Amino acid sequence: MTMDKPWAVKWSGRGSQYTEEEIDYIVEAIRTADPLTQGRYLADFEEKFKEFTGASHAFAVANCTCALELAAILCRLTSDDEVIVPAHTFAATAIPFARTGAKIVWADIDPRTLVVDADAIQKCLSARTRAIVVVHLYGLVCDMDPILSLAREHGIPVIEDAAQALGATYKGTQAGTMGDFGCYSFQTHKNVSTLGEGGVLSVRSPDLAALVPGLRHNGMRAYEGDRPNYWLPAMGDVDFDWDGVWPYNFCIGEPQCAAGVLMLDRVDEVNAHRREKAERFERDLGEYPELVFQATPQYGESARYCLPARYDGTNTKGSRNDFMDRMAHHHRVNMVVQYHPLYRYPMFEKAGFGDADCPHTDFFFDNMVSFPFHEWMPANEYEYLVSAAQETCEHLRR
Ligand SMILES: Cc1ncc(COP(=O)(O)O)c(C=O)c1O
Repeated sequence: MTMDKPWAVKWSGRGSQYTEEEIDYIVEAIRTADPLTQGRYLADFEEKFKEFTGASHAFAVANCTCALELAAILCRLTSDDEVIVPAHTFAATAIPFARTGAKIVWADIDPRTLVVDADAIQKCLSARTRAIVVVHLYGLVCDMDPILSLAREHGIPVIEDAAQALGATYKGTQAGTMGDFGCYSFQTHKNVSTLGEGGVLSVRSPDLAALVPGLRHNGMRAYEGDRPNYWLPAMGDVDFDWDGVWPYNFCIGEPQCAAGVLMLDRVDEVNAHRREKAERFERDLGEYPELVFQATPQYGESARYCLPARYDGTNTKGSRNDFMDRMAHHHRVNMVVQYHPLYRYPMFEKAGFGDADCPHTDFFFDNMVSFPFHEWMPANEYEYLVSAAQETCEHLRR
């Protein structure tokens, strides 16, 4: 479809804006950082990230997909293994685990919270399961206690995809710090971004954490001991951190780390603002039970990355597609439908991962709508969005 008029409310490509102080700090890094990668801003960002989340080991990388790749490598998966991955998520959650050769076993979501729970994971467990990936989707942390006890009972590592959930909490603990690995994104859409791309991997085990710097940077390391000539035998050494496991270059630049250093100060404020706005939106649409929003259990605080809802047309004359159609063409509101069930994508079908028993994932995807929800949406656009959604609900009741 091509729109003949511009959107009245656009789905923004960026989740947040920078303050003048942040811009000055980033510009200072651009002017002075030497080197422009792997320098003091990286060290500051990682230190501050550990302080903020409570993670024992944290490594900044180019994006969250790199963090997931490292987590998949560190699980040492083979083609005999199975990995449980939620089917309702962005493709990057699954690709790194598929790349290892392991079989992806798709877990369904809870229809109310839209994230996986221990029951869904239990159904996917087999004697070959070697990793469990959970996704704190739309900023909501999964109910982690039952998931972690199930995983511990079977001795299986848990990878938290916290790409959308930096600063979200579960019983007071930060998303991404409860499992064996936590993967975070600072990509453009996220609640805070390190200049469009960025990620962090948190690692619980000190032994596995020790392998990350080499795996992140082509196996590079300093020579051990004194050298009479610093240029001999070479500038730096290169070796396997884990025999047979080839490293990557997943490094992130210094100006991006500078952005991260200051933005970590604002995560709580940004998330609180998003929660307040999401709750207001749900209240403003409270007269329309045909819009069923993501349940946010009392066990923690969501980062409210997105504002998804299921359109329940049971008692109306409309469907999800009618809702999308009226919002797009009559009101010019740029709604989206997110997270195609991964087993329905050609890539996963071709790889042999096209089978799944995930009725809630299918049902939600086929009936979901997602409202534009960037932090900097002007007040007049917010008001317009609310009245457009109200009018659309009314229209579809007639
Ligand atoms: C749930 C989820 N996992 C992983 C990723 C990948 O993150 P990145 O773009 O930083 O690689 C994203 C999105 O960007 C995501 O939303």
